[in-house]
Amino acid sequence: MCGIVGYIGEKNCVNILVEGLKRLEYRGYDSSGIAVIYRNSLKIFKKAGKIIQMESSLPDNLNSKIGIAHTRWATHGEANDINAHPHLSQNNKFSIVHNGIIENYSVLKKKLEAEGYKFKTQTDSEVIAYLIEKNYKDDFEEAFYKALEKLEGAYGIVALCEDNPDFLMVARKGSPLILGVGNDEMFVASDVSAFLGHTKQVVYLDDYEITKIEKNNFKIKDFRLSDIARDVKLLDLDTSASDKGDYSHFMLKEIFEQPESIKRAFAGRLIENFGTAKLGGLNLTPQDLFQIERVGIYACGTSYHAGLVGSYILEELARISAYVEISSEARYKNPLIEKGTIFFAISQSGETADTLFAMREAQRKGAKVLGICNVVVSTIARESNGGVYVHSGPEIAVASTKAFTSQITVLFLYALLMGRMRDVSLQTGKKLINELKMLPEKIQTILNSVDKIDEIAVKYSKLNNYLFLGRGISYPVALEGALKLKEISYRHSEGIAAGEIKHGPIALVDEETPVIFIVPQDNTYDKTISNIEEVKARKGKIISVCFENDQKVKALSDDYIEIPETNSFLSPLLTVIPLQLFAYYTARALGCDIDKPRNLAKSVTVE
Ligand code: AGP
Ligand code: GLU
Repeated sequence: MCGIVGYIGEKNCVNILVEGLKRLEYRGYDSSGIAVIYRNSLKIFKKAGKIIQMESSLPDNLNSKIGIAHTRWATHGEANDINAHPHLSQNNKFSIVHNGIIENYSVLKKKLEAEGYKFKTQTDSEVIAYLIEKNYKDDFEEAFYKALEKLEGAYGIVALCEDNPDFLMVARKGSPLILGVGNDEMFVASDVSAFLGHTKQVVYLDDYEITKIEKNNFKIKDFRLSDIARDVKLLDLDTSASDKGDYSHFMLKEIFEQPESIKRAFAGRLIENFGTAKLGGLNLTPQDLFQIERVGIYACGTSYHAGLVGSYILEELARISAYVEISSEARYKNPLIEKGTIFFAISQSGETADTLFAMREAQRKGAKVLGICNVVVSTIARESNGGVYVHSGPEIAVASTKAFTSQITVLFLYALLMGRMRDVSLQTGKKLINELKMLPEKIQTILNSVDKIDEIAVKYSKLNNYLFLGRGISYPVALEGALKLKEISYRHSEGIAAGEIKHGPIALVDEETPVIFIVPQDNTYDKTISNIEEVKARKGKIISVCFENDQKVKALSDDYIEIPETNSFLSPLLTVIPLQLFAYYTARALGCDIDKPRNLAKSVTVE
C-alpha cells in the first residue's frame, strides 16, 4: 500500500524515482507523483491513474539530483490529481510524501486555517508540509522535528526543502521505510525493491526514528532527538524472482511456483526418524514448548484463512486449543492474554499495520508473539519474539497464493512438532511426513489440468454471484476461494460453512448461482454430500473440488475438478489450488487487471 521513494546523489534522479515507483507498483495505488529541485526551484508532477500517465507528463529536460516520489492509496480525499502526493507547503518551498494516516489532521488544519493558511487538497497529509513551513526559521531539520511533534497517527514521511537541496528528512512511525546506501548516493523507500537495482547496502529504520540523509551520510535520531547508531547491512536477495518470465501474470507464475515454494517451507525442517519437525527460529526449548497450553493467531485476509486452517490442524492433530482472530478486531478489544498461550502473527508482507499493532498490543501485555512471515526484512519479522520464515520467494501479485500454502505448511510443521510431544505416535508422524513430501508432486498434477479449470471458469464467468462451501478444514478454504474470486474478478462471492447454508444463505441459490463445493473425503464428507443435494434441489450449479476416485460427487456435479487424494490435515494444500486457478481464469475471461486489482494494495500499511 502506497510507495515512497527518495533520492539524493550525483545522478539525475528523475528516472530513478519513476523506476523505483514502478517497482513498488505491486503494492497497489491510485495515483502517483514526484517532486524534484530543478534549476533551484521545487517542481511537482502528479497524476491520478497509472504511473505511466504521470511519467508522460514529465518534461524531457527535467533534471535533478534530489527528489521524492510517491504512489498513493487514498485514505482521505478522492483519488485525483490534486490529492496525489507529493504535497507542497503554501509558500511552495517544502514538499512531502506520506504513507499512513494523520489522525489529528482536521484539528491541525483548522488551527492553520485560523492563522490564515489556505489548503489545496482534501488529504490528511498536506498539513505536514504546512507545519514544516510554519516552523521554519532558516533550519529545515529543526522545522521538521517541530512539525512531527504535532502529528498523531501513523506515518512514513520524506520531506524536501527548496532552500536545502543537499539533504532529505525522513521519519518513521508505523509505516515502513528503509535506506539504501550507494556510492555518492542515498535512497529511501518503502521497500528495498525500489532501489535494489542500484545498491544492496541497506539500513533498516525502526518506528519512532527520524533520519537526515545526505548523499554520503545518514544520521538517525529517536523522537527525543538522541543519536542512534545503526549498521549498514548487505542484502542477499535474488531479484530475478521479481520477473514474471513467460507467464502472462505474476499471479499465474506464483500459483505455478507452489510445488517448489511448499518444498522450501518444509526443507530442512523435518526430522524423519522421529516423525517430527524442528523450527529453530521459534527460540523455544522442548521445555518451553511443553508449557504451551493454547495458541492464539493474529492475521488478516488470506493469512487469516491460513491461520484458520492452522487452528483446525493444531486442535485435531496436536490436541492443543487454538483460536484465530482478525488482527484489526483483536487489537481493539483489549485482548485477554492468558498464561500458557503462545501467539503467532501471520503475515506475508510482514508489514500489515493491523497485524503489527495486534502483535505489539499482545507483547505489551506480556505475551510471546512468534512471526510467520515471508518478507525477511519486514517489521513483523523483526519485532516478533522469534518465528519462522515461509520462504515463498517474492510474492508480487496483490492476490496472495503461494504465501497461503507455505503458511499452512509451516503451521502444519508446528502442529506436528507439538503433536509429537503429546499423543501423536512415531508411526503417524512418519506417515504425515511422507504425505507432506508427496504434496509438491500432487500439486503439479493439478497444475497440469489448468485447461479444464480455465474452461469451467469461462463457462460460468457471465454469472454474478458465487458461493463457496466447505466443512471443517475445508471451510477456511471456501473463505479463501471466495476472497480470491472477489479480489481479482470483482464478482460477488461468499465463503460459507456448508452446514450453515440452510440457516440462511440457501435463499440466494437459483439456477444462476454457481456453488463451489470443497469436498475431500474426510470426516465431514457425508454431511457435505447432503449439502450438495440441498443446493441441487434448488437448481444451483454445482462445481466440486473432489478426490479423483470420487464417483459419487462427480455424478452430483455439473462440473468437477479432481485432485489427488491426501491426508485430511493436508487437504487444504491441494483443494485451494483449483480455487486460485478458478479465480484467475474467471478474472482473465472478464478482462480484469489481475495482478493489480482495483482498490487493493499488496501491503496494507495503514490501519
Ligand atoms: C490476499 O489475497 C489479500 N490481498 C489480503 O487479504 C492479504 O492476505 C492481507 O492484506 C494480509 O496481508 P499480509 O499477509 O501481508 O499480512
Ligand atoms: N493518508 C494519505 C492520503 O490519503 C496517504 C495515503 C497513503 O498511504 O498512500 O493521501
